[in-house]
Amino acid sequence: MRWMMGEGGGHYCSKKTDDLCGDVCGQESSQVSCIPRTRCILRGLDVKTYIFLFAVVPMCIFGIYMYGQKISYFLRPLWEKPPKPFNVIPHYYNEDVSMENLCRLHGWGIRAQPRRVYDAVLFSNELELLNLRWRELYPYITEFVLLESNSTFTGLPKPLVFKSNREQFKFVESRLTYGTIGGRFRKRENPFIEEAYQRVALDQLLKIAGISDDDLLIMSDVDEIPSAHTINLLRWCDDIPSILHLQLKNYLYSFEFHVDDSSWRASVHRYQSGKTRYAHFRQSDDLLADAGWHCSFCFRRISDFIFKMKAYSHYDRVRFSHYLNPKRIQKVICKGDDLFDMLPEEYTFKEIIGKMGPIPHSYSAVHLPAYLLENAEKFKFLLPGNCVRE
Ligand SMILES: *[C@@H]1O[C@H](CO)[C@@H](O)[C@H](O)[C@H]1NC(C)=O
Repeated sequence: MRWMMGEGGGHYCSKKTDDLCGDVCGQESSQVSCIPRTRCILRGLDVKTYIFLFAVVPMCIFGIYMYGQKISYFLRPLWEKPPKPFNVIPHYYNEDVSMENLCRLHGWGIRAQPRRVYDAVLFSNELELLNLRWRELYPYITEFVLLESNSTFTGLPKPLVFKSNREQFKFVESRLTYGTIGGRFRKRENPFIEEAYQRVALDQLLKIAGISDDDLLIMSDVDEIPSAHTINLLRWCDDIPSILHLQLKNYLYSFEFHVDDSSWRASVHRYQSGKTRYAHFRQSDDLLADAGWHCSFCFRRISDFIFKMKAYSHYDRVRFSHYLNPKRIQKVICKGDDLFDMLPEEYTFKEIIGKMGPIPHSYSAVHLPAYLLENAEKFKFLLPGNCVRE
């Protein structure tokens, strides 16, 4: 009851507070109200406390402003559980082994005829990787389907980059279904909504391209490239899972920086009309090991890096404008550092700490897409030892 007002004098301070002030400031506090109380507390503080209040606390606030995202990423294992692990299917391949034996090694039968295969992508500005992708997959694809919008996922206007470079892709012209879609240009909308909108349009375009039941459909971003032999295996073997994710090797900036082997978003579907929807999230538990390459931010020109950083669904990661400075970007690429100065997105402290700092250089250019090595001069920037960009 001593906290209630009015006890013995009609002012707002409790008896307890009076006692406290009395200890700090002496007798004069016998008739304090709350305002002089603040003053008496300040008077009672020593130098160390002032330093704490006016130096350490602002530094902490500044630190949280600068590194808040890092701190929250580092603490992620505390508040987020890792997803259910995939059922990883071992992948058997050697070019000298017959298809019948390869199918059998996976527990599948072989078909009399291969399935038809559709490769469908949403295109932004990844011209070089689109070229590598289509050259790699060309022998096994029935129809290439490409949709391009004049809006980025973040709602910025974007030129129709494919349209103005279409003559580079003459080799697929007879097997190409190309579509464009107008952006919605909603300000400050979550970029994932524009992305979902474009994926629905891609479903329509696939129907126009003539996809039918049990055809294979590759759902992946342009920079997630399944290896040709993987697609050949899946089109020849019977009884493969109806939705199969592909485990790809993750690279950053070029094939010089091998991050890990755990990319899983790309998937191959046995198409079911009315049921199959184009998506880029987890859709099943089955994951085929070592099925290709995922090369993020693998651009020839610095200007493409800047465009991508702005257009990206995670634009919130560009927290400071100097992140877009070309000199800084070039330095980051050559060191294998993170463009957004972020910590690795992992679910255990062991993995986060193990992956902190720059990605080690790789000197291997073995088992890369054939067209890349056949045209090494043209694609030099993707090979080890050539980090300097135009
Ligand atoms: C985007 O494309 C749509 C449909 O083709 C068009 O109406 C719109 O003006 C375009 N917007 C921009 C910014 O280019």
